[in-house]
Amino acid sequence: MAVDAISFRAISQFDNEESCQTRIREAKDKLGDKLLILGHHYQRDEVFQHADCIGDSLKLSRMAAKSNADYIVFCGVHFMAEVADILSRPEQISILPDLAAGCSMADMANLAKVEKAWRELNKVLGDADAFITPMTYINSAADLKAFCGRHGGIVCTSTNAKNVVEWGFAQREKILFFPDQHLGRNTAYKMGISLDEMVVWDFDEPMGGLTEAQIKNAKMILWKGFCSVHQMFKPEHIDSFLEKYPDGKVISHPEASFEVCQKSDYVGSTEYIINTIRDAEPNTHWLVGTELNLVNRLAEQFKHQGKIIEFMAPTVSMCSTMFRINAYQLANILDDLVEGNVKNQIKVSKNEAEQALIALNRMFEVSP
Ligand code: 13P
Ligand code: SF4
Repeated sequence: MAVDAISFRAISQFDNEESCQTRIREAKDKLGDKLLILGHHYQRDEVFQHADCIGDSLKLSRMAAKSNADYIVFCGVHFMAEVADILSRPEQISILPDLAAGCSMADMANLAKVEKAWRELNKVLGDADAFITPMTYINSAADLKAFCGRHGGIVCTSTNAKNVVEWGFAQREKILFFPDQHLGRNTAYKMGISLDEMVVWDFDEPMGGLTEAQIKNAKMILWKGFCSVHQMFKPEHIDSFLEKYPDGKVISHPEASFEVCQKSDYVGSTEYIINTIRDAEPNTHWLVGTELNLVNRLAEQFKHQGKIIEFMAPTVSMCSTMFRINAYQLANILDDLVEGNVKNQIKVSKNEAEQALIALNRMFEVSP
């Protein structure tokens, strides 16, 4: 009886997965040019294979900006679909197949806390707008991008962080960088700013937990946010890999800690990681510090070149919110669109979108 129940379940799941794939393909055929599916590298394969464009945050936002499609279905997380809405024309519709696909790091900063920090910084410095460039990682809500737009600030991604930080310092003497302390620290350090010139703003403490002197002396004020996926990677994982494979190469995403990035041979965005491994010599051995779906895909993609690609953490470390979107949801969203029903639209208010666009356009102007 129990065996029958299990085999029945296995068969129906298989049928379901197969039929979702067919439904997605058929809906895409029917919608044609009206539809653009964007897929971030961390999406699971069952969804990723249907994307018309794949890429990192910067590349996908550029795709959204130049698309003529009526519907932009973003297989990624909430802030990405918001950016697509901001950058596309008002009549275009941005859709996130699962509304709960957020980013836990983005949630570590919100407008109330950033405005409180700005008021406190104002008190210490006299005029925060005169001395600080606010800079938000693209992994943030639209209202924080709008805050940066209003206060002479800018957005960055992991691809263009260096150019954006350079721009920030050309405007004013300090940067308030949110929400990811690691991207801020790794980028500024690489540009020659010492750790002594950086402080961490603890958003749960009055004055960020800092003294007036610490704030006045700091060049880089780093929000105390992090990515729970990338903080799983530790320097000791790199040490034990290199003990076994002294010729091995280590590559990490800049959301990983300072210590991990310091021990890595290469540090860069998801797109950079893919390109670096693709362009490497055959038969090379890699330890990769980024999300598991991408690392597994790379291992599969380059094994015919004799490349061995290992995940940095000993435990599974997936982005659980990216993972929320599955083929079943994508099939449902697309079937609804075929019927003329829009579900899960992501819409940023006009005022917020206009201010966020200022900060995003500043980013595009300085991006490589
Ligand atoms: P990329 O822009 O490098 O794809 O990074 C996005 C992200 O959320 C990584 O955690
Ligand atoms: Fe956010 Fe981390 Fe997931 Fe990237 S991997 S979307 S930063 S939670």
